[in-house]
Amino acid sequence: MKEEKKLLETYQKVMVPNYLPADFIPKTAKGSRVWDFNDKEYIDLGGGIAVNSLGHANDELIEVLSAQSKKLWHLSNFVASEEAIKLGEKLTDNTFADKVFFCNSGSEANEAAIKIVRKFHSSINQDKTEIISFNNSFHGRSILNITLGGSDDSGKEFSPLIEGIKHAIFNDINSVKNLISERTAAIIIEPIQGETGIVEANKEFLKEIKSLCDSNSISLIFDEVQSGVGRTGHLYAYMKYEIEPDILTSAKGLGGGFPIGATLVSDNLAQTLQPGTHGSTFGGNHLACAVANKVLDIVNCPDFLNEVKIKENIIKTRLEEISSKYSLFSEIRSSGLWFGCDLVKEKSSFEFLDIAYGEGLILVPAGSDKIRLAPALNIENEDILEGLEKIEKVASKF
Ligand SMILES: Cc1ncc(COP(=O)(O)O)c(C=O)c1O
Repeated sequence: MKEEKKLLETYQKVMVPNYLPADFIPKTAKGSRVWDFNDKEYIDLGGGIAVNSLGHANDELIEVLSAQSKKLWHLSNFVASEEAIKLGEKLTDNTFADKVFFCNSGSEANEAAIKIVRKFHSSINQDKTEIISFNNSFHGRSILNITLGGSDDSGKEFSPLIEGIKHAIFNDINSVKNLISERTAAIIIEPIQGETGIVEANKEFLKEIKSLCDSNSISLIFDEVQSGVGRTGHLYAYMKYEIEPDILTSAKGLGGGFPIGATLVSDNLAQTLQPGTHGSTFGGNHLACAVANKVLDIVNCPDFLNEVKIKENIIKTRLEEISSKYSLFSEIRSSGLWFGCDLVKEKSSFEFLDIAYGEGLILVPAGSDKIRLAPALNIENEDILEGLEKIEKVASKF
């Protein structure tokens, strides 16, 4: 108790106050269970915000990470990496993409996507620099990405933001048509919005966007940083829609907890990033790529992805029961092991989370009025059931 309390006091002293952490500190974790400094056990249904795709301390990931840690950590991108090459091959063999750029996060993957598109048009002397994004979307926290996100509260204080970015309304094709001009270079969209609480684009809407892109020489960028790598029960969510982008950004679950980002791109656009035009010190590093190779090997199997959908049904059915018993949620949306639940009461999701911590349950919010579940894709059924029991207890106290 003392050690944890002291650490939390030090946190207040030394950390920039941009986060509001829980009042416990995890010490160890395995699978979908976490233990704090007082040996209190938690079921983890937050999955590190859709990052820990294979749970905590996964034996197979530990094995590849420790093997790689004894061989080679870092040289630089002036020298190729075996693990990065293998991962690039896997990602291109299994998706629409011909080429990959590796970086360390979702924000950086989006940065590369926008740079590719703008440079592509400038290299063929086209005055196409404008990007269409969507209101209430989320693309990260860099100045570019908050500009893409288009939410008033995260942008104004950091102005001036990036020029040439306009915002349409999600699932409203006329709002997109109204913004398209000869200067439009790209449309960037999350096929399923995560931070907004698992809000899916309609298939028809995405199809129309794709055809607008095709007929106006506009590149289509799918931000699959949160929806990718099995989260929806498909390797990438675009596969469920059967609509291919020109560029796709991936991160979070790709490294199963080890930081990595990737920008997947079609060949004609990729050629624009010639030597010296873009780069990343740590991007494609040996450790991250070794882990991501293993994550993909495990996740990209029909049986594994099918299990994700089976577990989705178990969780959704039980969440609906709990919700109707306690009038908890006005809507529950899900896609694979990814749930957005709108709270009925005008109480904040952070209050819900605090009660959950007390009950030994880790969840994540989606804004201040929604609860999000994004558990490990391989979560055991026993952990699911215990986690849902805890949600019921939290509901009774909320
Ligand atoms: C859809 C989406 N894009 C981009 C990002 C930013 O990723 P990162 O925090 O790794 O920069 C996130 C993070 O939540 C996200 O959900």
